[in-house]
Parts: sequence; C-alpha cells; structure tokens
Amino acid sequence: MSATHAVTTSDFPRWDRELLFEILNNIHDVVLVIDTDTTIVYANEAYARILGVPVAKVLGRRLDKIEPKAAAINVLRTGNSQKGEDYLDSLGINVIGSVFLLYNGKKKIGCISIFKNITEVVELNRELQQTKGVADYLKEQLEQWEQLPLSFKEYVGQNSQLKETLVLAAKVARTNSTVLILGESGVGKEVLARAIHYSSRRKDMPMIKVNCAAIPENLLESELFGYEDGAFTGAKKGGKLGKFELAHSGTIFLDEIGDMSLTMQAKLLRVLQEKEFERVGGTKTVKVDIRVIAATNRDLESMIEKGTFRRDLYYRLNIVPLNLTPLRERKDDILVLAKTFLVQFSREVGHELTLSSQVARVFQEYNWPGNIRELQNVLEHASIVCSSMSIEIQHLPAYIIPTNDNQVRFKDKPYAVKEIVARVEKELILSALDTYNNNRTKAMKALGFSRRVFYDKLHRYGIE
Ligand SMILES: Nc1ncnc2c1ncn2[C@@H]1O[C@H](COP(=O)(O)OP(=O)(O)OP(=O)(O)O)[C@@H](O)[C@H]1O
Ligand SMILES: [Mg+2]
Repeated sequence: MSATHAVTTSDFPRWDRELLFEILNNIHDVVLVIDTDTTIVYANEAYARILGVPVAKVLGRRLDKIEPKAAAINVLRTGNSQKGEDYLDSLGINVIGSVFLLYNGKKKIGCISIFKNITEVVELNRELQQTKGVADYLKEQLEQWEQLPLSFKEYVGQNSQLKETLVLAAKVARTNSTVLILGESGVGKEVLARAIHYSSRRKDMPMIKVNCAAIPENLLESELFGYEDGAFTGAKKGGKLGKFELAHSGTIFLDEIGDMSLTMQAKLLRVLQEKEFERVGGTKTVKVDIRVIAATNRDLESMIEKGTFRRDLYYRLNIVPLNLTPLRERKDDILVLAKTFLVQFSREVGHELTLSSQVARVFQEYNWPGNIRELQNVLEHASIVCSSMSIEIQHLPAYIIPTNDNQVRFKDKPYAVKEIVARVEKELILSALDTYNNNRTKAMKALGFSRRVFYDKLHRYGIE
C-alpha cells in the first residue's frame, strides 16, 4: 500500500509512517523486510510473537544467520518472487505466504516477506489424514477379520498355566510396555494381542496390525513408515501414511515378527528406541506415540544363534514375554473351547449340537498341531456334515481319527474318507462287542445304531 493511493478525510489527515506501522503491527500475518545483505530492517509484532522476543532484538540481525533456508534469501538471490508453503527450521513451524523484491526506482533494495503460521493447520491435516487412513484400514480389515473376542473376559480357557499368562497380560495391558507374544500357530496370539489393546488406556485409539510375513520385503518399509509424494514409481499421489502413523496414540501389532528381514529389523529397532522415523523419500522426522505388541510362532532365540534375528531387537521386544501353551499341553481346555465353538456353530446351523463321548475322547487324544484354529475348523466341518444333534466320530475329518496305520494311509491317499471311516467303524464295533462280552444288543445300543443298520454293518465288515 502506498500513501498516495489512500483516501483522506478530516479524521485521517494524512497516511504517515506511524499509522502504517500501527496497521502492520495489528495484523496476524508476519511482515518482515530485509535489505540486500539480508539484514532485518523491519519486522512487525506478529514476527516478535512467533519468535518470543521483542522486535528491537531482531532488527539489524541477518536473516541468513537465523534462517539460512528462508524463502526471502532465495528470492534475493534469484530475483524471482515466490508464493506458497515453507518450513522454518529455526522455529519448527510451517508457514504459508509470499515474498517479493523491493525497489527504489530501479535499484533493488531488499525484499518483503509476508506469511502466516499454519503449523496448527498442518497438524490438523495430519490428524485428518490419520483418521482417513485408519478408516480405510478398518474398512479393509472388516472384510477379512475373523470375529475375535475382544477382552480377557471373552478369552476362553481354564488351564492354570494359561490363567497365569492371562493375569500377567492383564497387568501389562495397563502399562505402555512392549509385549512379545510367543506360541505355535493357531494358539490365540492375535486374540491375546487384541485383549491387551482393548483393556489398555489406548483402547479408544486404533490397534493396527501388520503381518510382517504377508507383505513383500520391498513394500514392507513403505507399509510401515509411509511415503512422501513421488517417493517411487507407482507411489500414490500425495504420499501415504504408514502403519506406524496410523497407530499414533494407539497400538501397533507386529504379527509374525520372526519373518522380518534383517534390514527391516534394523529399521524397526530405531523406531522402537527413538519413537521416530522418516517416511520413504522424505527427510522430515516423524514422531509417534505407539505401544508395540509383537507376536511370532518362531523360536527367536535359535534364530539369534543362526544370525537371522537381531539380538538387540529381541531384547527390546522381550520386555514382557507372554507364552501361549499349545493345546496338547493344556488338554483341560479342549472341551471348554469346543463347547464355546459349538454354541456358535449351533446358531449357524439352526439346531443344538453336542459332542458324543467318543468324539470327546478322540479330541483328548489328538495332538492338535493347528491348536485352537484347528479345533474350530474341525468343529465347523462336523457341524456341517452332521445332520443330527450329536456329533459322532463319522462327522470328524478323517485325519484326526486315530487308527493304527492312519498316518501311512493318510499320506498315500489323503482324502480316502470312506475307507478311513469304514476302518474306524469296524474297529469301534469290534471294541463295543469286546466291551459287552459279545452281547450284540448292548453293543448296538452303545454304538447308537438301529438293529437293521447294525446287522448290515456286521455283515459288510465280515464280523461273525
Ligand atoms: N481363547 C480363545 N477363545 C476363543 N477363541 C479363540 C481363543 N484363542 C484363539 N481363538 C480362535 O482361534 C483362532 C486362532 O487364533 P489366533 O488367530 O489368535 O491365533 P494365532 O496364534 O495368531 O495363529 P497364527 O500363528 O496362525 O497367526 C481364531 O479364530 C480365534 O478366534
Ligand atoms: Mg496370528
């Protein structure tokens, strides 16, 4: 603005310097004038407010000493005015504004920079991006997630060792400590991770899961740390937030941590130690507040011996290890879990389902390599195959039925269901006859066969 363009009235006899300065001091934007050697010749109150020192303290100081990367210095050097966003390193703030050259006649005498502090807007934008990212993530997960129990109350199990683990898990849930969950496949590691998150102070913030084994090595880094606009070919415009940023204020669940490459292990270690990282293709350091829960079915200690898992990372993660015992070592939980699943499947098939005592016995004998997930699958199979109320041996998948040479035959011909069922049936009939001293009527009743079916089977299996 120049005084020559101003309207004059009787109350405003003239537009003098004093009036102009008063206006400049009362606007929210920063106004900064520097001369050609970057000495600050004018700064308004807004600048002093950002700096936290009186204007008099900055007048006469050189901007290239305070903020060497400032846009104003660039404008002086190149002669081109500039508009847009900038980041002031010395103050750690984001600004938006414009810078243009000042002339006295034809002589360049310096430049003027007018800008606004938009740090809050940038922060809000980050929060918005996080919320958006979390919403997208949850939408994606909703389609694939199993209905997992959410809290310790819903964690089925009565085994004393399991209970001890749960008590420890509930204690650690209240803290911010890193948790490492160890256990075989299907033993309930993810269920436990969720129970910990949902009983922690962070429960209203997201728990973000990363399956370290499922993501290809070259994508894992950008999955975890996100990337900046144009970080690599094929990168989404505007960049993308990584899982660590999505989990900000919440929990990150690093599943299958034993499958992470050594390079990624090194990067992860830094995040765990410093709680900060850079996005792929970015230089700005991003700080996050996260709680880490990691899980694996691998033996990390033997991996350390072999040099495939970093010892320092292991110590970082292993602050509170929680071991989930395999199902075959807590047989007292098998039927408890089975009953829970039966309630669920009864609802699905529309009628009540129970386990026959024989099936219960088979379940106790079987070694459950796939643990709880396998038990769940076996019962789902049985609930579909079985049309009556009671789940019998013949409703189970063939491979879990104990026959002496089952292993061999199973290898030869994996789905010879009829043959396997027939063999099992014959053995059960023989055992029933044995139990009842060849009293056919008693054996028949115990087996739950009708007379016609029973004699049919005796004939078919050549039992006299
Ligand atoms: N205590 C439990 N009560 C009820 N259901 C459970 C329990 N533990 C596990 N499950 C069920 O068993 C299945 C496997 O659990 P989960 O996915 O947590 O196992 P995991 O140890 O993470 O397995 P993996 O190593 O294969 O990833 C899930 O369908 C889950 O709902
Ligand atoms: Mg899992």
